[in-house]
Amino acid sequence: MRKILVAGNWKMHGSKAMVDALTRGVLEGVESTPAVDLAVFPPNLFLGQVQALAEGTRLNWGAQTLNPHAEGAFTGEVSAAMLRDFGCRYVLVGHSERRSLFGESDADVAARFEAAVAAGLEPVLCLGETLEEREAGATEAVVARQLDAVIERVGAAGFAQATLAYEPVWAIGTGLTASPEQAQAVHAFLRNKLVALDGTIGGQTRILYGGSVKPANAADLFAQEDIDGALVGGASLTAEDFVGICRGAS
Ligand code: PGA
Repeated sequence: MRKILVAGNWKMHGSKAMVDALTRGVLEGVESTPAVDLAVFPPNLFLGQVQALAEGTRLNWGAQTLNPHAEGAFTGEVSAAMLRDFGCRYVLVGHSERRSLFGESDADVAARFEAAVAAGLEPVLCLGETLEEREAGATEAVVARQLDAVIERVGAAGFAQATLAYEPVWAIGTGLTASPEQAQAVHAFLRNKLVALDGTIGGQTRILYGGSVKPANAADLFAQEDIDGALVGGASLTAEDFVGICRGAS
């Protein structure tokens, strides 16, 4: 049985005051929700602040990306070991904004995934097609290519502690959500690919859906067999909406 994971990607939002209020609001609100797993991904500057508030609670935290090198002259970058030092459990890799705005290739994403696993972090691998790719009937080919690049690098064993997040690019921040059936079809496709490699790992790997998840659509998404939670952007910036999404797991 895969436990639902509700994860908040705060992107480049926040201030010390906002992070304090949001983290406290989430911790308080989730006391009355189903026992889902929880994570937030603040900007790196706020990791210490979230760690101080969340340590010893149900709330896990992680970073939005990492540099694959262990250390060195990489101005502006942060390594997997540094994230571990801040108590991170998870790290996002291959978010569509990293791919499209910062030029991360499938190979770059695979290197980050491998570095995360090597450091004991649990990578959340984001995959998804653009609108043009969907309309061209290329959704499965695109997510297969993105997944295969990582499989080639780490093999099935590399997914033992990993999570996938299917995030159709056309649904991120647009208010458009894939229908539960559309999402389920891609989730099943991804799971079958993992199962073909390793039945145990494929069966236990969580596949989150991301793209305009909100309290109103969470329950229908979570009811799908292969949707094991959500990666939430905009709606994770208010405690009420994030907690409302967790309620969808009941
Ligand atoms: P959204 O973002 O919920 O604002 O669509 C999701 C994401 O980018 O992870």
